Amino acid sequence: MPIINLRLKEKLVKSHKIYVEDGITKQIPEILKKMEVGKKYAIITDTIVEKLFGKKLQNALKRKKIKSEIISFKKGEQSKTMATVEKLGEEMIKKGFDRYDAVIALGGGVVGDIGGFLASIYMRGIPYIHIPTTLMAMIDSAIGGKTGVDLKCGKNLMGTIYQPKAVFIDINYLKNLPVKQIQNGLAEVIKYGVIKDKRLFKFLERNIDKILKKDPITLKHVLKRSIKVKVNIVRKDEREQTGLRAILNYGHTYGHALEKLSGYKLLHGFAISIGMVIVNKIAVEKGLMKEKHAQRIKKLLEATGLPVTTMKKVTKKDLLSDKKKEGNYVNIILATKIGKAIIVKAKCK
Ligand SMILES: NC(=O)c1ccc[n+]([C@@H]2O[C@H](COP(=O)([O-])OP(=O)(O)OC[C@H]3O[C@@H](n4cnc5c(N)ncnc54)[C@H](O)[C@@H]3O)[C@@H](O)[C@H]2O)c1
Ligand SMILES: [Zn+2]
Repeated sequence: MPIINLRLKEKLVKSHKIYVEDGITKQIPEILKKMEVGKKYAIITDTIVEKLFGKKLQNALKRKKIKSEIISFKKGEQSKTMATVEKLGEEMIKKGFDRYDAVIALGGGVVGDIGGFLASIYMRGIPYIHIPTTLMAMIDSAIGGKTGVDLKCGKNLMGTIYQPKAVFIDINYLKNLPVKQIQNGLAEVIKYGVIKDKRLFKFLERNIDKILKKDPITLKHVLKRSIKVKVNIVRKDEREQTGLRAILNYGHTYGHALEKLSGYKLLHGFAISIGMVIVNKIAVEKGLMKEKHAQRIKKLLEATGLPVTTMKKVTKKDLLSDKKKEGNYVNIILATKIGKAIIVKAKCK
């Protein structure tokens, strides 16, 4: 079974296993039983995932005599708020969850961010497990321990860095996932290729059609390679202190501004796709990247079915609402070629 160990520098106790395996879901009850993460589990999920997989997971836990309750909220980014976290917390209190219990975040990135955040503050912190069910969550949000919610004035502005006890990645969940959500996750995969992994980028160029058709072998390769890129970055810079983790924000400074301008109707991956094209243009203009690299990236984004242009104008003020700003400066990540990225400070006032 391929198990990736996310060994973190700061405190080894926070290190955990990331299981990447077809059908690993079946083994979750057994593994949880051995790990003794909690006496009882709050399965935090959204309304869609609850219907698809919630009861199945609960029944599997029950067969191993593991107690759990499903607590769900309305699907979508609009639910990623403090109000939802508060409501879920109250529900957990009503259902008798205490310090010896744990959370299972079953769902996409929204569920992961909310479930992780809730676990990090419920009774001053209880353990949690990630079971990501979207491509975005499998290759990105379930890895690295960033949790949080949005505020009216911007995305992910409140949150914690709180590592799960384990992550279970089962490609079978992707069978039900609409292609638009696969494209959404692929934007982050392309990002990994551009900032750190030229071979992954080339693999995507050659296999994008198969990936969009969810060919299991190709998809599995993409999954493993992407997870490795993220794990290697988080391992070295969990709290974004050395600047290394910041390169994961390639395409994100403009992407976040576009998401906000669209009232969060534009999916995250679709927004960062445009964001990547914008920063590539800047890199080419500054003479930091050759035009041919920018063209190759644009071509792959288009082949994936992701947008590469927008009618929306991103102003300096929009960029300053990003939480990665430092005073009047924002950090913009520029790729210098496929496989390498650098951080550049840009003045916005
Ligand atoms: N914490 C991090 O490091 C990190 C990294 C990247 C993204 N994120 C966050 O993740 C969120 C986006 O995550 P997402 O793209 O997974 O969105 P999402 O969680 O909203 O899921 C997308 C939709 O797919 C549905 N769904 C989930 N799994 C399914 C399945 N297997 N089959 C069918 N439908 C399914 C969901 O109900 C939802 O309607 C954003 O809020 C973003 O900020 C966080
Ligand atoms: Zn992202």
